[in-house]
Amino acid sequence: MAVLRFPQEDRKIDSEPAICSELAALGIDYERWSLDRVGEDASADEVLAAYSDEIEEMKRRGGYVTADVIDVNPATPNLETMLAKFDKEHTHDEDEVRFILAGRGIFFLHLGDKIVSIEVGAGDMLRVPRGATHWFTLCEDRRIRAIRWFQDTAGWTPHYTGSGVDQSFQPLCFGPAYLGPRVATGIRV
Ligand SMILES: [Fe+2]
Repeated sequence: MAVLRFPQEDRKIDSEPAICSELAALGIDYERWSLDRVGEDASADEVLAAYSDEIEEMKRRGGYVTADVIDVNPATPNLETMLAKFDKEHTHDEDEVRFILAGRGIFFLHLGDKIVSIEVGAGDMLRVPRGATHWFTLCEDRRIRAIRWFQDTAGWTPHYTGSGVDQSFQPLCFGPAYLGPRVATGIRV
C-alpha cells in the first residue's frame, strides 16, 4: 500500500480510496493490483507472462509498445550511480509507469507550487504522466522490482530541471527512513 504525503502541509494519507482520489485530482493514475500471480523467485520472463493480460491492457490504455522488469537491490552494480540519475528533479517525454512487485521507493512530484510524495510498495501501480516534474529514490533497503512500460525506450531519458528542489525534501519512508547523502534543509519550492 502506498503512502501519500504533502510535506508542505505536513499531511499524510494512507487509505486506498483517499490516495486514489487525491492522485486522480492531480492527474496521476494509481491502482492496487494482485500480487498472487507469481512467487518472489519468479524470473523476469515468468513475471511478464503471468501479468501478460495487465501488460497488454496497459499498452492499450497508454499507447505503450513494450514492457520489462527492473530489479534493483543493494548488490546491483553501480546502484548509487543509477539512483543518482533519478533522484534529481526531471521530466520525461513519455509516461513513467510502474507496477511494484517488491521493495519500496518514493516518487516526489512537483506540481505547480505543490510537492507530493508517493511512497510505493508491492502491489502499487503508478502512472506519472509525461512532462510531470518529479524525482525518485529508494527506501533504506535499496530494493525495488517493478514492471515498466514504455512508449519509446529512447524517450525515457531524464530531462533535468536543475531546480535543486529535490535537495529540500528528505525521502521519508514508512519503514526506517533512508538517511542518504541528502538532509532536510527546510522546505522551499
Ligand atoms: Fe523519472
